[in-house]
Formats: sequence, structure tokens, C-alpha cells
Amino acid sequence: MSFRPNGMIIYKTEAEVALMNEAARLVSTTLAEVAKVLKPGMTTLQIDSLCATIVRDHKAIPSFLNYRGYPHHICASVNDVVVHGFPDNVALKEGDIVSIDLGVILNGWHGDHAYTFILGESNEAVIQLVKVTKESLYKGIEKAIVNNKIGDIANAIQEHTEKKYGYGVVRELVGHGLGRSLHEDPQMPNYGKKGSGPKLKENLVLAIEPMINMGTKDVYTAEDGWTVKTRDGKPSVHFEHDVCVKRGTALILSDYSVIETAEKANINLNASYY
Ligand code: MF3
Ligand code: CO
Repeated sequence: MSFRPNGMIIYKTEAEVALMNEAARLVSTTLAEVAKVLKPGMTTLQIDSLCATIVRDHKAIPSFLNYRGYPHHICASVNDVVVHGFPDNVALKEGDIVSIDLGVILNGWHGDHAYTFILGESNEAVIQLVKVTKESLYKGIEKAIVNNKIGDIANAIQEHTEKKYGYGVVRELVGHGLGRSLHEDPQMPNYGKKGSGPKLKENLVLAIEPMINMGTKDVYTAEDGWTVKTRDGKPSVHFEHDVCVKRGTALILSDYSVIETAEKANINLNASYY
């Protein structure tokens, strides 16, 4: 998200994309384990330690810990927290929405993605925000093909969320290239003009991550220097996929199907938007 761009985009070889697929899938299967056990009463620190254990059991490294001083293995962003929430000892409660963002390094390659869960009973407005944010991610991914531009992905996300539903698209934080580093060029904003920005070439791997607010786009960073919250206190949703640019159809390296299967089977999670 906030990173030092040096203007150089690194394209991966097929073999490297295959390795990145492994890293991304480890994130997905770990988030699926979270989806199996998540329920009101649980704390985000418990989720943090579950994720760290699973990642290390697979001989991978949780990549967020100590990244620019980040003090945990995951980001757990609840309700009005947009991203980079610290896991804590507060019990999650019915109606909370929680984005779990996890990064790993496996065989030298990064996987980094996020999923937002709804705990138990919620209201229509929140459920719609979650549904539409996830939809917008796929609208963006559809544009992640050779000869399109970064702005085409960005614009598709913005159109589906801001234009169609009046939601706030966070401007201060963006997605990013992904590879041997967590944050590579190019920046991947969730707003922008069609046809703008760098041209997409085959085997560019992007972490596309819409951060969408129910209310206004305005956010601020809390005193801990990390936690990003909505100014108006309304909820925000975050989904992230690791995507490889291809001709015709993008290749999604992460795998929500394992997470969604667990989510639907867990009676403590709200999967009513499917
Ligand atoms: N998915 C987030 C990102 O792309 C997570 C970073 S948290 C950090 O930037 F601690 F690693 F910074
Ligand atoms: Co990311």
C-alpha cells in the first residue's frame, strides 16, 4: 500500500507465476481455516495466532510481521476499520464485519490477500456493502488483461462502487504489484480513468484490493500509526486477490472457493448475500 515506487515493473516467468500460485493458495487455505472456526466471542488475536501457526507449519513466513515495524501476523480490520487493524483481545460480536488480511512468503515468493467475513445477524446495508465490494474486485479482475491499462481495472472498481452505489472509494491506499517483494510497482488504485496508467503486459502479478466505505471516502490513521479508520465511523469492507495478467482472461492466483465453502458451512457466519 504505501510503498516506494521505483518505476520498474517486474514481469514473472511462467515458473515464477506457478510458485506465486502456491504462495497465494497457502493464504487462501489459511483463511479457509479461519472461516471454519470464526464466530462471535472469538478474538482477532486468536485468529492471528491460528494463521501464524498454519503458515509456519507449511514452511512459509508470515510476511506482515515486522514489515516496516508492523507488530502482528495479520491485519484484522473490524467495522469502521478500513485496513491495517491490529489484532486484539476484544471479543468479536454478532453483526461485526471483519477483514482478515494475510501475507506469506513461500519459497521466496509473496502471497497477500484478504477476505471480509460477516458474523451472524447483520443488516441489509452492511450485507450489500460486502457483496458489492467483492463484486467490484471481480469487475476489476476482468480488466486485468494484456493491452488494458491499470486505469481500466481502477475505473471498473470505482464505477461499480462509487457510481452505482454511492459508496466511498478510499484514495489514500492502493493495491500493488506482488512478487519477491510485498509491494512492487505499479500502484493499483481503486479509482481512476479508463485508459490511464501503465499498460498491462503478460505475467504482471497484481494484488488488487478494493477498500470501500459505506459512507464517505475519507479516512484517517489512528495514533498507533497503522490502523486506518473511516472519518464518519461507518463500516468499510476490504477484499484482495492476487491476480496474474494474461491474454483474454486474468489468472486469479488466490482461491476464494475454499474460503467460501467454509464460510457457507459455518452457521456463525452470514453468507446470505450469495
Ligand atoms: N494487504 C496489505 C498491503 O497490501 C497488507 C500490508 S500490512 C503490512 O499492503 F503490515 F504488511 F504493512
Ligand atoms: Co496487499
